[in-house]
Amino acid sequence: MIDFRKILVKYDTPVPRYTSYPTAPHFIQGLGGELLQSTLSSLDTAKRLSLYIHIPYCDRLCWFCGCHTKQTNQYAPVVKYVDTLIAEIMLLGEKSSCRPLLGEVHFGGGSPSLLRSEDMIRIRQALGLVFQIDKATQISVEIDPNDHNDDMIYGLKSIGLTRASIGVQDFDPEVQKAINRPQSFEQTFDLVRALRSIGISSVNVDALYGLPLQNKQRLQKTIEHVISMEPDRIAMFGYAHVPWVKKHQSMINEGDLPGNIERYEQAKLAEELLVQSGFQKIGLDHYARPDDKLAQCANQGILRRNFQGYTSDPCETLIGLGASSIGQSTEGHFQNIVPTGQYTLAVNNGTLPAAKGYRFTQDDRIRGWIIERLMCDFHLKFDELEARFGSKCETYVEEAIAIAKSDRDGLCTATSTRFQINDDALAFTRLVVAKFDSHLKQSDFKFSKAV
Ligand SMILES: C[S@@+](CC[C@H](N)C(=O)[O-])C[C@H]1O[C@@H](n2cnc3c(N)ncnc32)[C@H](O)[C@@H]1O
Ligand code: SF4
Repeated sequence: MIDFRKILVKYDTPVPRYTSYPTAPHFIQGLGGELLQSTLSSLDTAKRLSLYIHIPYCDRLCWFCGCHTKQTNQYAPVVKYVDTLIAEIMLLGEKSSCRPLLGEVHFGGGSPSLLRSEDMIRIRQALGLVFQIDKATQISVEIDPNDHNDDMIYGLKSIGLTRASIGVQDFDPEVQKAINRPQSFEQTFDLVRALRSIGISSVNVDALYGLPLQNKQRLQKTIEHVISMEPDRIAMFGYAHVPWVKKHQSMINEGDLPGNIERYEQAKLAEELLVQSGFQKIGLDHYARPDDKLAQCANQGILRRNFQGYTSDPCETLIGLGASSIGQSTEGHFQNIVPTGQYTLAVNNGTLPAAKGYRFTQDDRIRGWIIERLMCDFHLKFDELEARFGSKCETYVEEAIAIAKSDRDGLCTATSTRFQINDDALAFTRLVVAKFDSHLKQSDFKFSKAV
């Protein structure tokens, strides 16, 4: 058995979440445009393409929020932003080699749920002009239950929504006060019912542990409420407190934040309750009903991880639309301009708004694959590594064996055929994964807590 208290004290260091490799702080200014253009030039109708569309607006500002968003009390800037998104879709069409078939389209934010139905429909129509959309195309949207009204439901139905992701965080009124996010259980359950009534068979709920004033009792109640709404998936994220990046997080009283050991125990409690209720644990922080696609992918060893977290989307190429969105292809990563005003200017000038980028070396591709498999499967089979990248992988196998040999905390083991994160150390996966990150060794960026 590992001594989790000792490990938490020993490694009280920030670690990346590894939704990409290399991680976003390593992207280089000026490289994004050419990487996106060469990706668009080599699109292939035989391969499904996925899109991430970012809406950087919310009608409230939650103090815990780590997303790229801005509070707006007026709708006019949102209409202008939708105009720009449509112009960006047309621009992508002009610069693409073909009219690819879409695999998944995800609207994230911010709160895409604040879009009026007419704007949702405008975006969907523009997508249909530039890309092919068929019955297998998955369309998902992140929803703030505060935005729920008949027009929103009508808009979601009209665009052919197939999956919804609902933000809950915590239902306890004291915790909600501490994060500035009032939201009742009834209001949230009404939204779930409304989504089910329009035929949405895949509903995800986001909840958090490690929030200010959260304790195991309060978390247990929240989880029981979440389970009673019968979602298909639950994302149980650890609150990332990074006030040096997200200034509004300094509204949170740091004295109210649970310590490392309490955070660890909260994560374990959530796991216990959800697994007891029939959810399968997926990766580090997701749970799914056993018949859900995410669980099926995890069981087949084909679960993926991208900028949005764990996914069943097998796409090779993901294009990000909207301010700050990140995309990825076999060539590298590309990120759109972050400030909304500058992003809008670029699109209106007819230039692709990707600014930062990162071109993969072969070493990045191999390490990226190793890191993705460890984050998804918690093990690495050396024969799979060689089947994918050839016999030149010997040095990576040797490195993995050396990492396991030097481990004094019981986190990982290796044989001649595989590297494994130990069952009782899965919560520390990011610490192990970081050992394969050759960029981290050279950087001094500050990330969030490891657990
Ligand atoms: C774009 S928001 C979800 C949609 C909608 N805006 C809402 O709040 O309901 C995406 C999710 O990221 C998670 N999140 C936001 N800030 C976070 C933070 N600082 N640490 C961990 N997770 C965070 C929350 O669980 C949130 O539901
Ligand atoms: S958590 Fe959601 S609603 Fe709250 S500020 Fe962040 S993106 Fe907006």
